[in-house]
Amino acid sequence: ATTGSDGITKRDGWSSRSAFILAAIGSAVGLGNMWRFPAEAGANGGGAFVLFYILCVVLIGLPVLLSETLIGRHGQSAAPESVRRMAQESGKSRHWDVLASVGVFSAFLILSFYCVVGGWVLYYVGAFVQDLFTTGLTGGAFQGRPAEEVEALLPGLFGNGTLMVGLHVAFLAVTFYFVARGVSGGIEWVATWLMPAFFVLFVAITIYGAFTGAFAEALSYLFTFEPSKLTGSVMLAAVGQAFFSLSLGVAGMMTYGAYVGRDVNLGSTSGIIAGADTLVALLAGLCIFPIVFAAGLEPNAGPGLMFQSLPRAFQDMPVGSLVGMLFFIMVFFAALTSSVSLMEAPTAWVKDKFGIARPIAAAIVSFGALVLGALAALSFNDLSEFQPLTGFALFEGQGMFDILDTLTSKILMPVGAILTSVFVGWIASKRLVDSENGLSGGLHVFWLFLVRWLCPIALALILLVGIFPEVF
Ligand code: PFF
Repeated sequence: ATTGSDGITKRDGWSSRSAFILAAIGSAVGLGNMWRFPAEAGANGGGAFVLFYILCVVLIGLPVLLSETLIGRHGQSAAPESVRRMAQESGKSRHWDVLASVGVFSAFLILSFYCVVGGWVLYYVGAFVQDLFTTGLTGGAFQGRPAEEVEALLPGLFGNGTLMVGLHVAFLAVTFYFVARGVSGGIEWVATWLMPAFFVLFVAITIYGAFTGAFAEALSYLFTFEPSKLTGSVMLAAVGQAFFSLSLGVAGMMTYGAYVGRDVNLGSTSGIIAGADTLVALLAGLCIFPIVFAAGLEPNAGPGLMFQSLPRAFQDMPVGSLVGMLFFIMVFFAALTSSVSLMEAPTAWVKDKFGIARPIAAAIVSFGALVLGALAALSFNDLSEFQPLTGFALFEGQGMFDILDTLTSKILMPVGAILTSVFVGWIASKRLVDSENGLSGGLHVFWLFLVRWLCPIALALILLVGIFPEVF
């Protein structure tokens, strides 16, 4: 295996296409699918959110994904440098690289609270391992403990600031380890073997839930479209979720695009990545909501939804402790392949900017994320009163965790995507873009229409109605 300049290993004997697809799917599929998608769908009323989300993935996410990867492949470098190159070859200002800088900054912010949620996953791995040792293999998980007690695990964790920070640091440390070494063999192994295994386990749990939970109710909740529920804030939430889930607007996919060979058709590859990511998100919805309804939980329970509903199902399931443990271990790995891609972008930037070694750059980024993430973790307990942006409608009543989440998914990622689509649609030379995108005929015309007109205009409108609902 050879390691590229920013550390992502290109393995000999692998077609670059499958390596790229795996790395990109690894980045896309993570906590955003399993944890954030169901929570956002529940908080935004179900069907209207879900269907608008799917529309956003197809009409906005997919064209932007192709735009990001083509910039990366053309530039063959870290994201800002790739944009600069394309701009200069097109005879335009090099300052368009600001779009990548916005992205690198958002990636850093996301990293800091992503690792906090990664810490919750570690906590649940621990709870199931302990349960496996105390109650053994037979029967469900947490035997003899009432459902309310199992549900109370999460509030219990949220109330313990020291533990929350400790778990955040632990998850961050694992991420640091992989990024500092150069994202290499280990992560590839996870992407190649564990992610497919995870998918199979996930499907099995969903099928189990379909037979034992309130599946029909979940289906109608998730897929009944009530136009009156599609408000500005629901639309902004759906767009934000699409970007978060596809890792867009943060320059991450540009970085990965730099590793793709010229023989790869970026158009169809982007379709595969977006398709796989959406499939896992919908699966998460179909897995979690039947349990939520069967157990009489509230769909708008917020960030705890996945963590409180799934253990309930594992309680009733044969060999539930083992299934629960395996499930959370795999969620951990899915989260890790994403957090690594989040740390990679700012690390590459710090490394190039200050000309320092990769491990030191990764350490600097990690230290920043440690501090910011600790503030986010403490916003569930000791610092819950600290709501610095209250007064702005979008951030009303939000502590640091929610502020970081809202700021990135509802402002910075859409802005990054607007800049990217304007750059690819209007600024970069048509010849360069056409030679990279792998599309032809009507599809090419349609893509160009989406990138030039629909993406920037729709995103700007959604941002406006989402941020200033009172004006509309
Ligand atoms: N797409 C990841 C998820 O759904 O969990 C989160 C993410 C990773 C966002 C990498 C942005 C990114 F650059």
